[in-house]
This record gives sequence, C-alpha cells and structure tokens, in this order.
Amino acid sequence: DDEKDLKPRPPIVTVMGHVDHGKTSLLDAIRNTNITDGEAGGITQHIGASEIVINDKIITFLDTPGHEAFTSMRSRGAQVTDIAILVVAADDGIMPQTIEAINHARAAEVPIIVAINKIDKQNANVDRVKQELAEQGLLTEDWGGSTISVEVSALKRIGIDELLEMVLLVAELEELKANPNRLAVGTIIEARLDKGRGPVATVLIAKGTLNKGDFVLTGTSYGKIRAMVNSKGRRITTATPSTPVEITGLSEVPEAGEILYSVEDEKMAKDLAEKRRQKIKDESNKGTARVSLEDLFS
Ligand code: GTP
Ligand code: NA
Ligand code: MG
Repeated sequence: DDEKDLKPRPPIVTVMGHVDHGKTSLLDAIRNTNITDGEAGGITQHIGASEIVINDKIITFLDTPGHEAFTSMRSRGAQVTDIAILVVAADDGIMPQTIEAINHARAAEVPIIVAINKIDKQNANVDRVKQELAEQGLLTEDWGGSTISVEVSALKRIGIDELLEMVLLVAELEELKANPNRLAVGTIIEARLDKGRGPVATVLIAKGTLNKGDFVLTGTSYGKIRAMVNSKGRRITTATPSTPVEITGLSEVPEAGEILYSVEDEKMAKDLAEKRRQKIKDESNKGTARVSLEDLFS
C-alpha cells in the first residue's frame, strides 16, 4: 500500500497474563459487563474480542486465556496486537504464564503496559510485583525505568480510567494506520461450528474493508460472506481495519490464526482453497511443515 492510502486505525490491545490474575474481570470493568460470571469455572476458553469507545476513540480489546494449554493461542494473540496489557495480580506476583506473556509481547515487539491488579486485596504487595517486574527487565517509571504500570482493581473498579488513558497515550505514539480501500485481509481469532449457522469465525480485519457478500478464502475454507455481526452482536455490512467481526458463509471451520483474504470472485476463492488443500496433502505425505497461504499468491 502507498503511504497516501493509509488512514488511522484503532489500536488492537491484547490482555495477557497468568491464569486467574483478572484479565477478563479487567475487561469486564472496562466494558461494564460480567462475562466472567458466565464462563465455565471462570476460565476463559477462547480469545474474546470487543470494541470500546473512549472519548470518541475506538479501542479493540482481545481477551486471552491464561491456562497453559492455550500457549499457542496466546502467541497468536501477540501477533495481531499493537499493545499488550500485562495483568499481574498483586497478591500473586509474576508467575510462569506472566513470563510467557512478556516473551510473546517482546517477540511481537509491541509495547507492554502493566496492570497491577487486585490491589484491593489485603495481601496485595505492589512493591514486590515491581521488584519481580524489574527482574524481568521491566523497570517501572516510578522506579526510574520506562515501563508504564497502573495499579488497578478490576473488582472495585479502581484505576480503570488511568489504565485507559495510558492505552490511548501509547496508541497515539504508535501512529497506527492501514489502507481501508482495498480487498480485506484479516486474521481468524476464533472459529466454531454453530448448529444453525454452520461455520462461524471471528475475523480481526488487518487492512482493507470486508463487506457482506464478499468472496473470501481462509486456509482450506472459502465462501461468500452471508452475514457479519460486530462485537456488540449487531448486524453490520462493512468492517474496516482493526474491527473484529463474526462472519458466516464459510465452507468449513477455519483454524484460529489463519489469514483470511477477500478475493475477486467465488471461483478464485474455491480454486485457491482447493490448491491449498492439495498442497497440504502433498506436504504431509512428504512430512514437511505446514503450507502458508501466502505461497499460493506468490
Ligand atoms: P483466566 O481467563 O482463567 O486466565 O482468568 P482471568 O485472568 O481472566 O481472571 P478472571 O477475570 O477470571 O478472575 C479470576 C478471579 O479473580 C475471579 O474470582 C475474580 O473475581 C477475581 N478478581 C479479578 N480481579 C480482581 C480484583 O481486582 N480484586 C479481587 N479481589 N479479585 C479479583
Ligand atoms: Na479465571
Ligand atoms: Mg479470563
């Protein structure tokens, strides 16, 4: 894309951290909802996407599961993100999945904002958390470093405004842009088979605009977009960069992490999906690595 085609786009912020440190609760506090109450055992099983408007500015948030079985999903989360919020429970400190999250954010070269959560708890120890962060190379600003940290309580809704201010500040410095006027490219962040609607996938738009009726291809799945629903559950007909959108109309359930492409027509979508399916078959016969969809376009 030419520089002149690039337009500002909302930041994509991924909330990461150890299991039960309060990632979903923090998003609940930001959204004023209670997703955690509805979760089986309070454990996040998928990457939830939501859009929040603050002072007329949109922020796209991705929740991630903290359970260690979800390492690969978390690493994908880091790849689609612009900013990572690292949630650390003040009563628990840095734990194995906290370090994993730090490593993912570093590998993706995205800025980290630390949310020191659960400061309402009797046994909260903020200084200990800052000490442990320093040991990981994240020296907070008040300790003479450059890591932004905010002390919060998701439960008591303390520090939420300050955290959002920091997110907007960091986002502004990133000068995030994308070309909305082209065929859409996005990432599948979650997908499932719905009894009534068939394959349903949540796509995070990276560039271009996705329209209802577009022909798309993702992995070996393809189709014409039948309907699009935004993160608030409302039907929409177009989705611009940084927008998470649930789509229906795919031929099969794609894998999370796959890239989705809009293409000119249905034949192209079908042919490319078939070509990829064949290539994966050939490669797996040879025992070699997975095939990238980009290979087919080059
Ligand atoms: P996973 O998705 O399973 O990794 O957990 P999570 O990081 O999303 O944590 P979750 O929001 O499910 O919160 C875990 C537990 O901590 C719940 O019982 C919350 O009520 C509690 N909790 C979260 N934030 C706070 C807080 O600020 N203060 C207190 N006291 N409890 C909190
Ligand atoms: Na939890
Ligand atoms: Mg959660």
